[in-house]
Formats: sequence, C-alpha cells, structure tokens
Amino acid sequence: MSDIKNMQLTVPDASSSVSSSDKSIGRIVSVTGSKAIVMLDSPKEGRVLRNDPPDMGTLLGIDTTNTVVLAIISALSVPVPAQRDGDAEIWIAELGLCGELWRDESGRANLFARGVTVYPALGDRVRVASKSELEAAFCGDSSRSVRIGCIRQDSTIPAMVRVDELLGKHLAILGTTGTGKSCTTALILRAILAKNPAAHIVLLDPHNEYATAFSEWAEVISPRNMQLPFWLLNFEEIVEVLISDGSRKAEIEILQELIPIAKARYSAGRARDQQNFRRGMIEPTRFTVDTPVPYRISDLTGLIDERMGKLENKKDLSPYRQLRSRIDNISQDGRYSFMFGSLTVYDGMTQVLSRIFRVPVNNKPITIVELTGLPTEIIKVVVSVLSRMTFDFAHWSEGKVPLTLVCEEAHRYVPAAGQLGFEPCKRAIAKIAKEGRKYGVALCIVSQRPAEIDPTILSQCNTVFALRMSNDRDQEIVNAAITDTGSGLLEFLPALGQREALAFGDGVALPVRIKFDELPAHCLPRSTTARFTEHWQKSVGDEGFLEQVVEKWRSSDIGAGSDATQHAAMMADGLGIDPGPLAPEPLRPSAPAPRQESPLAARVREADVLRPSAPAPQPAAPANPAARPTPTVRRDTFGSAPASPPPQRAGTPEAAGSEQPPVPGAALKSLRDRLIQRQQR
Ligand SMILES: Nc1ncnc2c1ncn2[C@@H]1O[C@H](COP(=O)(O)OP(=O)(O)O)[C@@H](O)[C@H]1O
Ligand SMILES: [Mg+2]
Repeated sequence: MSDIKNMQLTVPDASSSVSSSDKSIGRIVSVTGSKAIVMLDSPKEGRVLRNDPPDMGTLLGIDTTNTVVLAIISALSVPVPAQRDGDAEIWIAELGLCGELWRDESGRANLFARGVTVYPALGDRVRVASKSELEAAFCGDSSRSVRIGCIRQDSTIPAMVRVDELLGKHLAILGTTGTGKSCTTALILRAILAKNPAAHIVLLDPHNEYATAFSEWAEVISPRNMQLPFWLLNFEEIVEVLISDGSRKAEIEILQELIPIAKARYSAGRARDQQNFRRGMIEPTRFTVDTPVPYRISDLTGLIDERMGKLENKKDLSPYRQLRSRIDNISQDGRYSFMFGSLTVYDGMTQVLSRIFRVPVNNKPITIVELTGLPTEIIKVVVSVLSRMTFDFAHWSEGKVPLTLVCEEAHRYVPAAGQLGFEPCKRAIAKIAKEGRKYGVALCIVSQRPAEIDPTILSQCNTVFALRMSNDRDQEIVNAAITDTGSGLLEFLPALGQREALAFGDGVALPVRIKFDELPAHCLPRSTTARFTEHWQKSVGDEGFLEQVVEKWRSSDIGAGSDATQHAAMMADGLGIDPGPLAPEPLRPSAPAPRQESPLAARVREADVLRPSAPAPQPAAPANPAARPTPTVRRDTFGSAPASPPPQRAGTPEAAGSEQPPVPGAALKSLRDRLIQRQQR
C-alpha cells in the first residue's frame, strides 16, 4: 500500500480538450455498504487529471438528485499494470462514503450530514469536492465549533471541531514523542476556552509544562501550594500511601477497623455532637472507610496505641508497631506535607472542590495540577483521588457543572492489562470513560504509547487526533479505533509533518488530515525537548547557579503544609471571613525541620479549640455561596488560597535587608482575634 500511497496520478497527455471546469475524475463501478470503487478516467478518454491529481485522503463529491455524496479516497491501485509506458491500463480508487450534503430549494448543496442515506449509482461521475462543499461540511455550525487549523486538502478551509461532540464522547491525542501532542492539547483547549470562558477543565500535568500555555486562564496547583488532605483519600488510596504493600493484610485490617472510628471521633469532637457521643448516640459505624469526612491522624495513632495496650499476646504487636511507625514517618515527611501537613483538621471539602473544579470560575476556567515534585510513589494516588473526585463531583452535582479531565501521559495511569499500574486510579479513569457522558464528564487522553493504554478506555474516545506515529503496534491500535471509511488515511501516519494530524470521530465533520494553527510563542507549553546547541554555547556555573540548584533541591522537601500565611488564608476562607492583612511568612530554614510543637503550632491548636458548635456541611452538598454553612474551624484543604509568592529564605539579600522583620504567626494571630470576636458576637 505504501507504494500506492506515493503514486502520482499525473497523466502525460496534458493537451486534452476537456474544459477546466470539469473536475470529474472517473465513474463509479462498484458500491458496497459504505465503500465504493471508482475507475479513474484514462487520458485516452480525454479527461485529464491535470488540475488536482487525487491523492490519498482527498475528498470527492458524487452528485445524486437531492444530495452530493462526500467520499474520501482510502486506496489507489492499478490492478493490471501496463507492460510498457503509455499502454492503456486501469486505475482504481477506493472510496469511503462518509457524508452527504443536501441541496436546498435553489439546488445548492449546503446542508451537511454525517453518513450516507442516498447511495451513488453505478456509472455516476465522481469529482473532487468543491471549496463551497468543503466549507459546508467543515464549517457548518460555527456557533458551537472552534477553529484549530485548516484542512490539508485546501488550506483556505478552516478545520473546526464541534465542542459538544468532541468533549461529550471523549477524545484522544496520540503521537510519537516530540510530534506536538502537548502543543495540540494546548491549542485545542485554548480554542475551547476562548469561546467558553466559564469552562471547568482539570489538566493533570506530569511534566509541569502547561502553566505557560494558559497563563491568564489557569489556576496552577503545584506541589508547593497543593493541599490534598489525607482524609479525602478512599480506603484503597490511603492503604497505598500508608502501607503500599497489599500483602500486609494485618495492617490493612487494622486501618479498616480504625479509620471509621477516627472519623466518628472527629465528628463527635465537634461541640454539638459531644454530648451525643458520650451518651453513645453517635455510632462509630456511621462512617465507612471511604466516606470523605475529616479525621485526625492523632486519633488514628491514639487508637492504634489503645489497641496495642490492650493486647495480651505481645506477638500480635508487630503489625500495629509497623503501621504506627509508617504513619509517623509519612505524616512527618516534608514531601507529604500537602497531604498530612496541616496541624489541625477542618472540613474544607467545599474549598477543595471550589479550587480544583473552578466553582465559581473566577476567570480561571482551567486547573493545571503539576505533578513533578511530588514523591514519585504518590503521584498515582494523587491522580486517582483527582480522577475519582472529578467523577464524584459531577455525579453529586447531577451534571450541572460539565467537567473535562485531561490526562497527559495516560499510559502511566491507565496501562493495558499486564502492565504495572495503580488499580484504583485505572478504575477511576475508566469510570469517567464509561459513564462520564451521563454526568457531563469528558476525558481527554494524551499519550505517545497508545498500544500501552488500556484498550477499553481508548476505545471510549470517540474523537482521535493521530499525530505522526511510526511504531507498528501503536498504528494498529489507532487503526482499530477508526471506522472503515477513513481507514485509508492511516497510511499517512508515519509520514505526517509537523503540526499535522489525522482527525476522525464525531468531533470533526469527516475523517480529515489537519494542519494545526501555529500557537503563538507565549501560548506554547514549555517544551521538554532540550535545546542542546543553544545551551552549549556559553558556560554556566557562576552567579551562584549551583547554590540555587541546591537550594531548590533541598527545599523541595518543604511543602505548603507548613506555610502559615497560606493556611491562615485558607482557614479564613473556610470560615467565610475576610483574611485581612496577612503578615508575611516567617523565614524558614531550607532543610526539613523536625516536627516539634512550634509557636505556630501552638497558635493553630488554640484556634482549633475555638471550634463553633454548628455541624459541618454535608460533604456531598453542592457548593452554594449564598448559603455558606456556619463554619467549623478545621483545616486540611486544597483550599482557595491566594497565590502567595514563595517565602523568602534565610540568607537572601532581600531578607537580610528588610527593615521590619516579619512577625512569626502574626497571620494566625490576627485570624484568631477575629475568630474570638466572631464567637463573642
Ligand atoms: N500547533 C503548534 N504550534 C506551534 N508549535 C508547535 C505546534 N505543534 C507542535 N509544535 C512544535 O513541536 C514541538 C514539540 O511539541 P510538543 O507538543 O512538546 O510534543 P510532544 O508533546 O508530542 O512531545 C514544540 O516545541 C513546537 O515547537
Ligand atoms: Mg508532551
């Protein structure tokens, strides 16, 4: 087939008598289902293929009484080649019938429909589709479509994608590394966001490359400002974090028993419930291990200690001890502070949802979750929580907030059977792929290794943008996804140029070869391709370069969990009060500090004592700004903290030269004062 692909149907005799307006190239000699075969005119018949020699993928038109059938060339062949140059031979084009244009009263064919209802008859003439026909097919309903490029056949025809169909039935962007997947993702999302300013898109960004592409529109959640409290994790996820080894059954059972009790204790700790708890009216069993309600790690470890104390057989202590020590290690590990870093717990679930899913949108319709910098072993857990929450949020908000989850490097999170992967993560994404449509959750899969993605998930992606792909197995996978009509196009996969893709599925009118628009420099994702020649012209190493590298390296251990200003702001937000002028963050050492009771911790603990007695809002209740629940002072939230600049570090010239040293914990103190005032009121 590859020889045929390169075949040029130019005909030697250009001095034909046929008028240039007649672009017909042959006649139908066979029609079967959605395919047809055309015998191309030979020069001897007088019709010359001189204007546009049809190429693979060219769109043709076949006139019937009421319609123009649109067909795409999917194969070209010469069944019996001539022995000598110039001898007569038969040229065949195979067509996929893919759509039709209905004629209006004036006879103009301009109403496009996918699929074919009126079939061409034997002997019907076939011609290259005209510009107006291509326009009618590709730019039909422009109100719900966005432009992403032009079509290869005619660069004056815009390639539009239909947003509802594209997202409603999921999409995949596939191609070898370096072919432009990230740029294509940015281009398509930007085109959608430009027309849909109140969108809700969550992009999982494993290479921290997208923030530059959406600067004005993006809420960027990085490991520095991420707050994903551990209590939002379901049981499998918390087991993965705290135990990670599924064979340690005894420890898993302990967690399974104690987490619901810790949840009940936390709930009972709230003043209003306290009496009921004492009276035994609150059952520990009212929460399951999976219910997303807060609990304290200290309650969990306390329960473990209690159990250990009661054990008679000291041999049974081992799983308790191991679990206890793992919990201690993880919850004190600076890299995990985004999950365990809060000194107190409060129910910030609505803030978590608000920040991730952009409700309200606050002019930032896309959330970019940067994953580089998180401990490698926990990234899959974070992806799992976010994917699960995406589905659950859509489910509990009854589809009122359509969401899109973009999963870059998807083969990592939804690998095909037999490959390593985190089962709950795969299940969460598979759930979106299978059931997301009902609740308005779209999935966008981006991957350079389609063959390694779970085929059941990939097969749910109705629209596919296939960029250059050379690996045979990957091509086969894409081949399986495309319908018969466009399959011939796939011959192009290894030969596609820069910014080119084959697009097929409901998101585009017809299977088509697209040339994407060029993204302006300020909208490009940060390319991960190192520019060696640029960087190897000049030596680096002076101006404290290495010191900065070491500084960054070490400080990666310090997460946002210990950022008092940010937490104060989040707490204020959780309580629905004005955070006021928050003092700058006290200077922090650049190495992870041992966890001791600091003045800051003491203050936060004091604030924790000030818990008002009203019950917490039901976690599943959709956020309603008008009916803000009476607050409960709790922490641990993804929160909607204002983006605060990274704290200054000891030893920097700015810090040394500042006239007024920042007051440690002043932010929390002022917050506390306001809390007291509020309680007195
Ligand atoms: N639509 C586009 N506009 C501008 N540049 C593009 C576009 N598509 C691809 N590129 C170029 O291709 C390079 C590689 O693209 P990238 O998206 O990083 O590839 P991938 O994600 O497949 O590894 C980019 O650095 C960019 O120069
Ligand atoms: Mg990329």
